[in-house]
Amino acid sequence: MLAARTTRISSSPTMKGLIAAERLRASGADVVDLSAGEPDFPTPAHVKDAAHAAITGNFTRYTANAGSSEVKQAIIARYRADYGVEYDEAEVIVCAGGKQALLNAALTVFGPGDEVITHRPGWPTLVEQIKLADATPVIVQTRAEDGFALHASAFIDAITPRTKAIVINSPANPTGALITEAEMARIADVAAAQGLWVILDLCYERLIYDPVAHNLPKVLGERMRDRTILTGSASKAYAMTGWRCGWLLATREVVAACNAIQSHSTSNVCSITQKAVVAALGGSQQCVTEMLDEYRRRRDLIWGLVTHDPRLVCAKPAGAFYLFVDISALLSPDGLRTSADFCNALLEDQHVVLTAGEAFDAPGFFRLSYAASTERLVEAARRLHAFIADIDAGKYTTR
Ligand SMILES: Cc1ncc(COP(=O)(O)O)c(C=O)c1O
Repeated sequence: MLAARTTRISSSPTMKGLIAAERLRASGADVVDLSAGEPDFPTPAHVKDAAHAAITGNFTRYTANAGSSEVKQAIIARYRADYGVEYDEAEVIVCAGGKQALLNAALTVFGPGDEVITHRPGWPTLVEQIKLADATPVIVQTRAEDGFALHASAFIDAITPRTKAIVINSPANPTGALITEAEMARIADVAAAQGLWVILDLCYERLIYDPVAHNLPKVLGERMRDRTILTGSASKAYAMTGWRCGWLLATREVVAACNAIQSHSTSNVCSITQKAVVAALGGSQQCVTEMLDEYRRRRDLIWGLVTHDPRLVCAKPAGAFYLFVDISALLSPDGLRTSADFCNALLEDQHVVLTAGEAFDAPGFFRLSYAASTERLVEAARRLHAFIADIDAGKYTTR
């Protein structure tokens, strides 16, 4: 009999699709995989050079559990430059990805009997981590009709006497939506008055397409710094998913607790990765701009190609690198009934991998990652429309 917590959480629902894609690839099929939640670019050369230098210089031992002073200073300097907020070294911990930063936060703040509010469609890990920390997720639904906007009133209405924290992801995966500074401020004012925590997942913070105001760290810092937890990551901004580096900024008390938890689980982030991240955060940010420019070109291209059929409904995302497309007009009780059916049939018949909305608690949608070459995106769109032509021709109709 396994521990009860294993029955509370579910593993990633995208796994089935990935296994099917692997099977097709092994049989020689030309699979177009637009399911990945990661940049397709190589890690920038100066970042890799720093890692090589770390190995050559034998920077290969344990570091301080919360990260070297050098990498913490690089994170502090980045947040000062980008947001004008001040943190000191005791207020920063370096983690194995934003994912571990968020788990540290969950284990530090949430407990049995607590309710934690977050939003959907959303990245499933946020909800599963709330459950792992023995708390109860309370979900705010955002809507395609208004671009999946995060409205403060929906979060405030969800507060009960048991609410402990609010977890917000902006830019959001899978919708690409941003919360505005004004909405964040309204949430922060109420959270501050009621002593709630706000945990802000900024994993895609460097991937915002238009020059919109998104200084959420400052908005929170001015209203409730003592109960704000910021998490960020090198993964998406610097094409470093495999290096595993993220971070958490909060009060000394929170960071000390996260440090204790991490010291008994994974310890410090790989020393070589830390040196690479110093180069990423501290070096020229031109690489980030170039990747963002390329994602913008791809977004505009694939958005135009996909929404050419008006039954594929999708707003242009403001951030991250996903289209989140409403396909309910193509589903029917006597044909492809769910978005999971749609994605499975698309994979089997056209060898295109998309992620069904079910993975984000949003049936009736698919997520398409445009972190892929122009050539692959054009090919995916061609196959998608061929697939829809087959739907229209009755190929999937059962009666
Ligand atoms: C919304 C969101 N937050 C955090 C993460 C964590 O990424 P990492 O652990 O690679 O930093 C991801 C990764 O997909 C994500 O989509």
